[in-house]
Amino acid sequence: MTDDVKARIEALRTELHKHNYNYYVLSQPVISDYDFDQKLRELQDLENAHPEFFDPNSPTQRVGSDVSKEFSQVKHKYPMLSLGNTYSKGEVQDFLLRAQKFINEDIEIVCELKFDGTSISLTYKDGKLVQAVTRGDGEKGDDVTANVRTIRSIPLTLPAGDYPEEFEIRGEILMPWSVFEQLNKEREEQEEPLFANPRNAASGTLKLQNSQEVAKRRLDAYLYFVLGENIGGDTHYEMLQKAKSWGFKVSDAVRVAKSVDEVMEYINYWDTERKNLPVATDGVVLKVNSLRQQRELGYTAKSPRWAIAYKFKAERECTRLREVTYQVGRTGKITPVANLDPVQLAGTVVKRASLHNADIISELDLRLDDMVYVEKGGEIIPKIVGVDKDARKENLLPVGFIDKCPECGTPLVRLEGEAAHYCPNEDGCPPQMKGKIAHFVSRKAMDINIGEEGIDLLFDNKLIGDVADLYTIDLNMLSRLPGWGVKSAMKLKESVEKSKEVPFDRVLFALGIRYVGESAAQKIAKAFKSIDAIKAASLEQLQEIDEIGESIAGSIKYYFSKEKNNALIERLRDYGVQMELNTEDATVVGDKLAGLNIIVTGSFATPQRRSELEQMVGDNGGKLQSSVNAKTSFIVAGEKPGSSKIKKANELGTKIISEDEFLAMIEQ
Ligand code: IVH
Repeated sequence: MTDDVKARIEALRTELHKHNYNYYVLSQPVISDYDFDQKLRELQDLENAHPEFFDPNSPTQRVGSDVSKEFSQVKHKYPMLSLGNTYSKGEVQDFLLRAQKFINEDIEIVCELKFDGTSISLTYKDGKLVQAVTRGDGEKGDDVTANVRTIRSIPLTLPAGDYPEEFEIRGEILMPWSVFEQLNKEREEQEEPLFANPRNAASGTLKLQNSQEVAKRRLDAYLYFVLGENIGGDTHYEMLQKAKSWGFKVSDAVRVAKSVDEVMEYINYWDTERKNLPVATDGVVLKVNSLRQQRELGYTAKSPRWAIAYKFKAERECTRLREVTYQVGRTGKITPVANLDPVQLAGTVVKRASLHNADIISELDLRLDDMVYVEKGGEIIPKIVGVDKDARKENLLPVGFIDKCPECGTPLVRLEGEAAHYCPNEDGCPPQMKGKIAHFVSRKAMDINIGEEGIDLLFDNKLIGDVADLYTIDLNMLSRLPGWGVKSAMKLKESVEKSKEVPFDRVLFALGIRYVGESAAQKIAKAFKSIDAIKAASLEQLQEIDEIGESIAGSIKYYFSKEKNNALIERLRDYGVQMELNTEDATVVGDKLAGLNIIVTGSFATPQRRSELEQMVGDNGGKLQSSVNAKTSFIVAGEKPGSSKIKKANELGTKIISEDEFLAMIEQ
């Protein structure tokens, strides 16, 4: 029986790995998403029922885990060097000639794209991914294996092939443009800071503590360098082709050039063609093909002498500045925007560019009607990088900065140490009022079914003026708005009703008290349990909570000092919004587990129960671990605990306790 199960598990794993490869590496799926999900579910069910067959490289592990752990540092077996950079084709030519002269025989050059992400080194043993480490300082990096396992184009196990028993393969982890744009859109909705470019987004994602979150971000990877002892092959190109045959994603843009002209052709081609790629690139990398010649050329302290990177120039155009307008953000932040004569740049027509703040305007010494240089580098928002002063006409008006809010006329303020101007009229300035509503309804807050356009429409038609108005909205009026019908009105009403069940910690977050983000709201709600207790708390009492400092505490006191806010809370309470923590949601907050490293394993009464227990570890000051080691204090085991964990615990003599024993520990 168990043998059958084992065989079925293995067959499913092999099949699903293959489908992942077809989909994510070859972009040629052969089964439907539905069939894939069915098979994955079957495998997951079998694995749940038979934890003794757990495998970290199973396709089910691609979804990550919500166990957070700090990364351990790993020393690279071979240092991760960087490449010499150049922006000039002349220098590329010099590099090629120098290498040729040094070698004193014909050389071939492998031309590759320079992917603009974050580099990674993967180690495979017996065809299985065993470790993934970031570049770090080149000598040692972070072990991000759990996160990398969620990247579908990285094979977890290799089908049979001529790969060495142990090897490293290096490459670049990337966030595709489409994912990046979607992510930033979501972050904007949540009022979270935006990522400037896909590179930052990829490296930020790889460093997330929760691999389930990483899995959602849909990273991709290209591999470009195989290392190890006796890896076979005489040329770099051959190694790349081998890597491809082993199941790795190697770019199809790799070419072997036999002359300087061919290298230049490659550079010129990709300088424009790269705009059609789904991922960011910032240049090309040129590598001597022969591995013997590479060894002869050797390394400097920082980089190989057998490779160089040619970086593409950021695209830049010159156009006329027509007008500077000012946008008021949801937080009251004022952003100056340059309105330009339309100009074609990096594949799109640019009409507007951000000028960021008053300091940048004065540094540029801008005048209306100036000819300005607009650049679009790795960033997607174009920026003005300079002025063509030779083309400046006489008597042009300097661009100043406004002193009143363009939306509500309130005098602007500039806080000490901040570059931006703000409109302080948070309760009466329309974009800020709409912003508060947008935050309140957002997914992580009250999760009410209305988008930004809907809010604009309801607000502009005076159906809502603040968040409490959502609860008394007139269905008749609503269904008569342009673009709205009875159905969409009902849907909104339903989700408003449902929001009355949203637990208090999320309500507290939804109120939009400055600096009170999701995690601060959770901590404060857990510590004080009700809005009344928070309101009554002193500055000092608020600051006693872990991670709550002066600015958050001060901001909370300020919020409750305003009568308007208190009245709003009372209205929300009357409408049925949760203003205290439900006892079932409440967990003990304390430090009973401080200094202890704890593992939760096996299944409990419900799948959520395990997450709750894990949450309790953190809430009580303990640290969650994912694998047993000498530092493990104890294991909380449910039904069918992970057999490898139990085996290791028995070897080390680690204590294993039940859920009840655990609860007793924190409830004492
Ligand atoms: S080869 C010893 N090939 O560029 C040379 N690097 O400064 C190893 N990169 O850290 C790197 N695309 O993150 C190589 N096709 C490519 C690349 C590439 C992007 C990145 C990589 C490296 C940096 C070099």
